[in-house]
Amino acid sequence: MNPVDASRLTVEVCLTRAGRLETMADDVRRGLTAPQKSLPCKYFYDAYGSRLFERITEIPEYYQTRTELATLQSIADPFVDDGRFTELVELGSGSATKTRTLLDAMERRGCLTSYIPVDVSEAMLRESAAALLDRYRNVTVHGVVGDFQQHLGSVPRPTGPRLVIFLGSTIGNLQSDERRHFLAEARELLDADDRFLIGVDLVKDVGMLEAAYNDSAGITAEFNRNILRVVNRELGATFVPEAYRHSAYYNEADRRIEMHLVPEDVQRVYVRDLQLTIDVSPRETIWTEISCKFTWDSVVAMLDEAGMTLTQWHTDPRGLFGLALAARHG
Ligand code: AVJ
Repeated sequence: MNPVDASRLTVEVCLTRAGRLETMADDVRRGLTAPQKSLPCKYFYDAYGSRLFERITEIPEYYQTRTELATLQSIADPFVDDGRFTELVELGSGSATKTRTLLDAMERRGCLTSYIPVDVSEAMLRESAAALLDRYRNVTVHGVVGDFQQHLGSVPRPTGPRLVIFLGSTIGNLQSDERRHFLAEARELLDADDRFLIGVDLVKDVGMLEAAYNDSAGITAEFNRNILRVVNRELGATFVPEAYRHSAYYNEADRRIEMHLVPEDVQRVYVRDLQLTIDVSPRETIWTEISCKFTWDSVVAMLDEAGMTLTQWHTDPRGLFGLALAARHG
């Protein structure tokens, strides 16, 4: 037996179940009482939703994950060569599958000392940390159980040059004000020699974009409806998920996929923990996600607005998905 050395793992919990439920209650009340009903997409990811998302990443039509991974594999070494990074900070680490490509490259360069994942799921974080401690025998893991939109202040001060990563085009799921706030906080994690790596899904043929969110196996539809199951379970709501149709389409003007749930019929829904009753009807949707698509120009502009400069830009040969490396303005 070769037990993982527990002294190489620390976990800091910024999110309590009570705090999480309180935030969810506020978010759901605000979303369901607005003229355009909506639910924040971060609530897709309970245990079942996270499994569904893992399945989405394997769908033939969903090119994003495999494309980002392939590009990461081909450029991990030059990325890492941009600085003598000793630390890797990952925001929204999830299962941390793509992360290994970078950790391997950092280890090859011989500088890797610590990995700092930030994730809302303590279970997911502990599971992936255990696997990484086992694979990288000289690395310490400092996990932060928190929301990357709220708890970046809990990421420890750097002990050496570091690479902060935010993969999977998760940035595309933020509204513009949330995105600005997030990037400002992320910038605070960087010293002059540090770098920020973001994965961004790129503007492309509408047919290809829409197919990725309307897979023929119906997994994305199931993923979309799962948000109602989460609200039912966590807040005691009475949504009938099967009575909602999945709708996802590209909004050209705003360069984003929008995902909605369309009630098949009128239904009165009670949310017990909010003591809130709402009426839904096929004439109004519940908006569950935006997934913004980027171009080189829009990435440069977004970074510039946040006080950062693009230092490297990589895409796959077909230009489907981009990886942007950035530094804070000097
Ligand atoms: C990879 C989390 C950014 O917007 O494409 C997949 C999630 N939503 N199918 C995306 C998602 C619908 C997703 N992220």
